[in-house]
Amino acid sequence: MDGSNEMSTAVGGHESPRTLDSLSPRRDHPRLLRLGARTRKGVLVVHIASAGAWLGVDVAMAVVIFTAVVDHDTAVRALCLQALQLFAVWPLFTAGMICLATGVVLGLGSKYGLVRYWWVATKLALNVALTGLVPLALRPGLSGLSELGRELAAGHLVTFSVGNMIYPPIVSPAALVVALVLAVFKPWGRIRRQPPAD
Ligand code: HEM
Repeated sequence: MDGSNEMSTAVGGHESPRTLDSLSPRRDHPRLLRLGARTRKGVLVVHIASAGAWLGVDVAMAVVIFTAVVDHDTAVRALCLQALQLFAVWPLFTAGMICLATGVVLGLGSKYGLVRYWWVATKLALNVALTGLVPLALRPGLSGLSELGRELAAGHLVTFSVGNMIYPPIVSPAALVVALVLAVFKPWGRIRRQPPAD
């Protein structure tokens, strides 16, 4: 039996449902996973660390891409274009997947759920979209850039336009900062209003 029911019996008649809700968040928030306090904190540490690593790789990718675009030294541009594929695909994907997995565990193991609060559901959608774009859109794009880098390093005359390649290092960190702000401020409340308790 849910511990919160016991609480409602114990204090029934003295507390309003609203007050009870704040006393016992579990009452109206069934959890699919039970996490001990230490486990939850451990998962939260991994979650925040993976989000930080993800943002860090995004920033590094932005620096390397913008250097490839604006630098006048051909060797530097060639190096940047080739280096991108090394650190931008698997580290990004791994950090994104760890963030997603730990986020899901935190959601299922807390009153927040996965699609119970707007801020969690929005982060879930952002995380899935950003992580999915890495193998689907970023990886093929970076393979092309890496090939250009090799040609440039070999002394071939290569012209490349900024094109779509400036979007990943702008869109992804911007979306991650939105997710970060949502995580800290937890705005917008519940997705579905609760029916009033009897
Ligand atoms: C998109 C990338 C994400 C970033 C940058 C991010 C960032 C964060 C940060 C910084 C916190 C700590 C907030 C605090 O303790 O005040 C947090 C907590 C949390 N995140 Fe994420 N997160 C992301 C994805 C997700 C996903 C996909 C989910 C679930 C589907 C999720 C669910 C949660 C939950 C439930 C908490 C609260 C944990 C608790 O205090 O019990 N997050 N997130």
